[in-house]
Formats: sequence, structure tokens, C-alpha cells
Amino acid sequence: MTEDSYLYFCRKVKQLIGLDLTAYKDRQMKRRLGTFMLRLEVNDYIELAKLLEKDKEALDKFRNFLTINVSEFFRNPEQFQTLKDKIIPSLMSPGKPLRIWSAGCSDGSEPYTILMILEELGIRNYQLIASDIDLEILERAKVGIYKKDSLRNVPPSLLDKYFIKGQDELYQFSPQLSKQVKFKRQNLLEDPYDKDLDLILCRNVVIYFTEEAKNKVFLKMAESLRPEGVLFVGGTESILTPKSLGLQTVLPFFYRKIGESKTAAL
Ligand SMILES: C[S@@+](CC[C@H](N)C(=O)[O-])C[C@H]1O[C@@H](n2cnc3c(N)ncnc32)[C@H](O)[C@@H]1O
Repeated sequence: MTEDSYLYFCRKVKQLIGLDLTAYKDRQMKRRLGTFMLRLEVNDYIELAKLLEKDKEALDKFRNFLTINVSEFFRNPEQFQTLKDKIIPSLMSPGKPLRIWSAGCSDGSEPYTILMILEELGIRNYQLIASDIDLEILERAKVGIYKKDSLRNVPPSLLDKYFIKGQDELYQFSPQLSKQVKFKRQNLLEDPYDKDLDLILCRNVVIYFTEEAKNKVFLKMAESLRPEGVLFVGGTESILTPKSLGLQTVLPFFYRKIGESKTAAL
């Protein structure tokens, strides 16, 4: 399969679903596409492009296949402990709502983890936005039903307090509380970002992007933070030159926007 046919395929996908595959790591994407083509018994990118163009069902399957939705509550619990003990208290400003965005929120485990932390800290004045490119996973996030294994890091006291235990070891996150999250579809590579945010979580999302796309996304996120707002990234997504984005490292995986603010800094 030639590079030209791959680029042709990427252009077709952009037309069909608005997603720029060239912004994702090349080798990883081609490997995943190879698996998808095997499943559909398609031999090359041109044939796949033709199939996706005429077969709506195949296109839906393809869209779902592209997004890797693995998530869990309190993913890297020690980092969420730091978020609770140090970062969130440092972002509080009297009378001003705490504006938080979970970017690439998948099935909701991440924004609901934040909700529990806010509740436990007694913070009621907040706005919590959660976005993902994948409409299907957003619907699941709104319903908020989870298998036990994605809850393995939830302390038992929080499990009792914030979840309803159903049948077959399934748990539903508090429907009253889940209403506090504003879920929306958003493509991080194309769509505009909210502004004046205190905290952005973008974890295990840019890991699949090229360096160029990753830098673009982090730069846009830095612009979306209010001065001294914080960007929280995933365990393998450290930013090598935060200063070039107007950020400084506060603690591993936490970057603060350089600038003056009335809020107490760490
Ligand atoms: C592995 S999950 C990470 C979930 C959560 N942040 C965590 O750390 O557990 C990655 C999510 O990023 C989303 N995603 C991938 N590309 C995206 C894009 N261009 N714009 C928005 N979301 C995207 C996927 O749909 C998926 O739900």
C-alpha cells in the first residue's frame, strides 16, 4: 500500500467524518487500520475509502473503531490526590465559579472523578465541561453505568456515597450529580475551545497525535486557561518545553499558565 493511497484515504476520511487522520501518529494509525481492513476483508486504502463512501454502516463501525475509549475512575490515583490536595485549592477565587474542562472525557470516568473531588472538598460553585469527539461514548457517559473494574481506584466510602449498585456488578454514578456535567461533542483538532478556564484535564488523548498536532492542541489549551490556570496531562504526555507554550511546570503532569492573577499560587 503506497503513501499516496494512504494520503488519498486520509482526505476521504476528512471529507466523510471531518477527522484529520494525518494528525494521529502514522505507524499506530496504519496498524489499527490494518486490523480494521482485515475484519472487513478489504485489501487496501482505496478499497476501504470506496466502501466507507457508499456504506453508512461500515462508516459508523469505522468511526467507533478509530476512537480508543479506555478510561477509569481516578486514573493514576496519586495524581488525583495531588489535584485534590494542592492544585484545586490553589485555583479557588472567592465568589468566582471554578471552571473545569475534561477534554477527551471518554465514558465520563474522568469528569465524574472530578465531581466527587469537588463534592468532597465542599466546592459548590463550579462549571464542569466534558467533551469528546465520539458521540456514542458521550451517550454512555451521560448514562454513567460502569463495570466494577473501572471503579477499582474508587475508595469504598465514595463508592457507597456516589454510586447506585445495580445487577451484574454494574454501578451507576449518581444521576443527580451527573447532571452537573455539561457534555458536548468536540473535535480537539478543529473546533474552538472554551476560554477563561481554571483547570483543563487532557489525559491520554494527545498520546495518539503527532508531535505537531499535540503541540497545537496544548498551545490552544494554554490560550484557553486564565492566567495561573492549570493544565493536567496524562502519565506519558509530559510537555518538554512548557515555556514555549506560556506554561510552567508546577508538579509532574501539572502546568500552570504564566501570568498575573489574584488567586493564590502554589
Ligand atoms: C483513552 S481515552 C482517555 C479518557 C480519559 N481522558 C482518561 O484519561 O481516562 C481518549 C479519548 O480521546 C478521544 N479523542 C480522540 N481523538 C479526539 C479528538 N480529535 N478530539 C476529541 N477527542 C478525541 C477518544 O474518543 C477517547 O474517548
